[in-house]
Amino acid sequence: MCLLQFVLLAVLSTRLGVAVAAASQGQDALQKCPPVSDAEYDYIVVGAGGGGGPVAYRLVESGFKVLVVETGKDESQNPTTLNLSGSWAAMDDPTIDLDYRVNEYPSDFHVQRNDIWYPRSAGIGGCTLHNALSHSTENLHETFDNLARTFNDSSWSRENMQKYLVSIERNLFLTPPNPDHGFDGWLTTVRGPVNFSSTDPQWQAFGTAWINEAGPLVEDISRSEPLPPRGRGLRQWTGEPDFTRVGVRDKLAEVAARYPERLTIMTDTLATRVLLCGGKERRGTKAYGVAVAQGAKLPVAQGFKGKEDLQEKRIVAKREVIVAGGAFQTPQLLMLSGIGDFEQLRELGLPTIVDLPGVGSNLQDNDEVPVWWEFNTNFTNPTSVGEAFYMSANSTTLEPDMNAYTVTNQFSGFQHGISIIAANTRNVLTIVNIRGPSTSQGYVRLTGAHPQDGLDINKMRFQGHGGREDIVALREGVKRWRAVVNDNAEVMQYVRREVSPGLNVTSDEDIEEYILKNVFAHHACCTAAMGPDGDSQAVLDGDFKVRGVRNLRVVDASSMPEVFGYFPTTPLYLVAEKAADVIIKATKRK
Ligand SMILES: Cc1cc2nc3c(=O)[nH]c(=O)nc-3n(C[C@H](O)[C@H](O)[C@H](O)COP(=O)(O)OP(=O)(O)OC[C@H]3O[C@@H](n4cnc5c(N)ncnc54)[C@H](O)[C@@H]3O)c2cc1C
Ligand SMILES: *[C@@H]1O[C@H](CO)[C@@H](O)[C@H](O)[C@H]1NC(C)=O
Ligand SMILES: *[C@@H]1O[C@H](CO)[C@@H](O)[C@H](O)[C@H]1NC(C)=O
Ligand SMILES: *[C@@H]1O[C@H](CO)[C@@H](O)[C@H](O)[C@H]1NC(C)=O
Ligand SMILES: *[C@@H]1O[C@H](CO)[C@@H](O)[C@H](O)[C@H]1NC(C)=O
Ligand SMILES: *[C@@H]1O[C@H](CO)[C@@H](O)[C@H](O)[C@H]1NC(C)=O
Ligand SMILES: *[C@@H]1O[C@H](CO)[C@@H](O)[C@H](O)[C@H]1NC(C)=O
Repeated sequence: MCLLQFVLLAVLSTRLGVAVAAASQGQDALQKCPPVSDAEYDYIVVGAGGGGGPVAYRLVESGFKVLVVETGKDESQNPTTLNLSGSWAAMDDPTIDLDYRVNEYPSDFHVQRNDIWYPRSAGIGGCTLHNALSHSTENLHETFDNLARTFNDSSWSRENMQKYLVSIERNLFLTPPNPDHGFDGWLTTVRGPVNFSSTDPQWQAFGTAWINEAGPLVEDISRSEPLPPRGRGLRQWTGEPDFTRVGVRDKLAEVAARYPERLTIMTDTLATRVLLCGGKERRGTKAYGVAVAQGAKLPVAQGFKGKEDLQEKRIVAKREVIVAGGAFQTPQLLMLSGIGDFEQLRELGLPTIVDLPGVGSNLQDNDEVPVWWEFNTNFTNPTSVGEAFYMSANSTTLEPDMNAYTVTNQFSGFQHGISIIAANTRNVLTIVNIRGPSTSQGYVRLTGAHPQDGLDINKMRFQGHGGREDIVALREGVKRWRAVVNDNAEVMQYVRREVSPGLNVTSDEDIEEYILKNVFAHHACCTAAMGPDGDSQAVLDGDFKVRGVRNLRVVDASSMPEVFGYFPTTPLYLVAEKAADVIIKATKRK
C-alpha cells in the first residue's frame, strides 16, 4: 500500500484508540528491566511542592529511603518567602519565579489574551513558597464524594478526607477536642487577621455593609459539614499568629533533620525523563527510575541561558517513581517519557510507549474576577481581610459555588511589579470574586522534544459545555459585590471612584465582556487526571497509578479530575496524605 494510505490507516486506528503501530514501536525501543535490588533509594519523588512534599515525608516516616528531585533550591532563608505580608514580593521574586506564559482563549475567539504571566515557584515547597497562605477545605464535597462513587471507594469520601486534616493540622484558633480539626500536627492554622472593628472609619463603613449583605456568619470554613448557600466566613491561613508562613517545606526540613539517612533532597536538579523498561513482557511496562540533569534550568526559570546539551544521570528506584512536578511540568515529564497522546508525541518525534491522550488535557482552574475602587484615604488595616462572603450562583449545588475575598490594595490579576502596585495602592479596595467549579478545559502541550523546550499552554477559558453558566455566575457575582459598595451611601461617602469595571460598564453584555478581559486564577490543576476504567481520557486510576505503567504514580494538582475547592493547597495536602497511605499499604501487600 502507498505511504499515504498507511499514514491514514495509522491515524484512523489511533482515533479508535488502538495506536498499535506506535505503541509497539515505542515498546520495542524499551530495554529489558534492569535489576533494581541494589538501588540506593526505595522511592524517587519528582517535585517538592504541595503534592510531592507530603508523599516524601510520609514515606520517610514509614521507614523508606526517599530521593526528592527538585529543580529549585532551598529557599528557607529567602526573606520574601517568610511571611504573608511578604507574599506579594515572593510572587515577584525572580529567584523563585517560574515565568510561565499562557493564552486564555483559542485563536478564533473574539477576545484575545495571549502571553499572560502565570506565576509558579520552584524550590523546596514549590508554589507553597510564594502563595497567599489561604487555607480552607470548603467546597470539596462534590469532588471527593464523586471520586468515592467513581472508584467505589469510601476512603475518598469528603468525610474520610477530613481525617487527614485532623492528622496534619496544628489548629491555633479552636479549642480541642474538635472532630474536624487537629491540634498537634505540622500545618499551623490561624484565623483572622482583621475584623471590622478597626478604627478606620471607611473600613468600618465597608465592613458594616459587607456584614449586612452577606448573611449569617460561619465560624469555621474548614468544617466538614457543607456551608450554607449564603453567608460569610472567617478566613483561615496556614501560618503562625504573626503570619509567618507555614508550609510543607517546614515539615520536610523537620523530617530531613530527624532521618538524614533516609531523606535526600537533590535541589537544582531537573528530572528530564522517567526511565521505563519492560515492553512486551508479560507484566508490561514498568518505571524503574528517572533521568536527571544537575544544574539544568527550566526554560521559564530566571537565569535560563538557552537549551543545553544535557548531561543526564540515571537514578534507579527499588520501588516506585512518584511524579509531582505540578500541573504544567507533570504532563511534560510524562510526555517526554513517552506517555501521552500518540499523535502529539509523533509530531515531535517522540516514541509513544503508552498512549494516554488525557496527558496534558483537561487543564482546569478557578475563575477569579476583581472589582475595585479608589477610596479617599489609605486603609490603615492590614492588607488582607478576615472575612469571605459566600453565595451560590447555582441553587442545585450542595455548597456555595462562589466566594469573594477582599484586599485593601489593587489586585487586578498578575503582572510583574505586583508587589510595587500593592504597596502603592493602599487607598484601593479590591473585591475578588472566586468561582469554585469551572467547566473550562484547556491544555498543556510540548513545543519540542527537549526537556528545556517551552510549553504551549491554553486555558481555553469558558469554551467548554458549561462556559455560558460560568460567565453568568461570575456576572451575577460582580453585580453583587459592586452593589455592596455602590448602593450604600455610608460607604460611598469615602469612595473616590469605582475604577474597575468602571461606572460605564452596566449592561449584562458589558459586564460579561469585562469578565472575559479580566478573569484570572492561579490554581492550575487536572492535567494528568484520575478517572474510571474505560475512560480514554483517564491518566490515573483511583490509586494515583499511571495507567499502563507499573511503579509510576502522579501525586500533585494534576492528579485531580476537576477544580478542588477554592484554595487548593490544603486540599492537596490531604490528597497527598491519602496517596501516601495508598503507597504504604501497597508495599505491605507486596
Ligand atoms: C501566586 C499564587 C498564589 C497562590 N495562593 C494560594 C493560596 O493562598 N492558597 C492556596 O491554597 N493555594 C494557592 N496557590 C496555589 C497552590 O500554591 C498550588 O496549587 C500548589 O502549590 C500546587 O502544588 P503542586 O504540588 O501541584 O505543584 P507545585 O507546588 O508547583 O510543586 C511542583 C514542584 O515541582 C518542581 N518541578 C517541576 N518539574 C520538575 C522537574 N522536571 N524536575 C524537578 N523538579 C520539578 C517545581 O520546581 C516545584 O517545586 C497559589 C498559587 C500561586 C501561583
Ligand atoms: C515579613 O517579612 C519581611 C521580609 O520580607 C519583613 O521585612 C517583615 O518585617 C516581616 N513581617 C512580619 C510581620 O514578620
Ligand atoms: C463496591 O464496593 C463494595 C465493598 O467495598 C462491594 O461490596 C461492591 O460490590 C462494590 N460495587 C461495585 C459496583 O463494584
Ligand atoms: C476586633 O478588633 C477590635 C479593635 O481592634 C478588638 O478589640 C477585638 O478584640 C477584635 N476582635 C476579634 C474577634 O479579633
Ligand atoms: C498612602 O499610601 C501611599 C503608599 O501606598 C503613600 O505613598 C502615601 O503617602 C499615603 N498617603 C497618606 C495620606 O498617608
Ligand atoms: C447548575 O448545576 C447543575 C449541576 O451541576 C448544572 O447542570 C446546571 O447547568 C447549572 N446551572 C447553572 C445556571 O449554572
Ligand atoms: C468604559 O470606559 C473605559 C475607560 O474610558 C473604556 O476603556 C471602556 O472601553 C469603557 N467600556 C464601555 C463598555 O463603554
